[in-house]
Amino acid sequence: MTRRGWGAAAALVAVIGAAGWIAAAQQAPDEESLTFLGEPVTIAQLELGQEVYAASCASCHGETLKGQPDWRRRNENGRMPAPPHDASGHTWHHADRQLFTITKLGVSAIVPGYESDMPAFEGILSDHEIAAVLAFIKSTWPERERGFQARITAKEGGGS
Ligand code: HEC
Repeated sequence: MTRRGWGAAAALVAVIGAAGWIAAAQQAPDEESLTFLGEPVTIAQLELGQEVYAASCASCHGETLKGQPDWRRRNENGRMPAPPHDASGHTWHHADRQLFTITKLGVSAIVPGYESDMPAFEGILSDHEIAAVLAFIKSTWPERERGFQARITAKEGGGS
């Protein structure tokens, strides 16, 4: 195969890979068990969340939620890169309410004085869109991470 041919083949594999991942993500949630802030998550919300993710989050957190390369090491500016939102990251260590606050108001709303490259989405995304994108992220987690996160959400009273 020519060099160009290989490039096209690789691109095709990447596209199929992403499509497969999205299909898996959409099949994964059973509407009954997935909630966000105590409300059952709907398919319409997940579709909106996926759009919001692609438009507002993927540039830093990666199209397939893998985060930025070498995300555990600080950037030259002393700040952290964007972590993955999949099971390899730690988004699932936070209760729903915390995830909502971080996305709407930024990390410093949880850790006062903390400097971060994570933008605050207040005034950019509505509360509805923020809930949708976080529900979408949650829907991609495997059962174990989802169960863990559901338990801290319940414990921290993050369900309301
Ligand atoms: C400009 C880049 C950028 C964009 C765009 C961005 N983020 Fe982030 N995000 C970051 C960085 C960097 C961090 C790491 C924060 C830190 O520790 O300083 C982060 C952290 C987070 C965290 C905390 C994760 C954890 O494990 O502690 C959440 C939740 C989050 N982002 C959600 C979102 C959502 C939802 C969107 C889209 C609506 C989004 N981010 C868009 C850069 C970005």
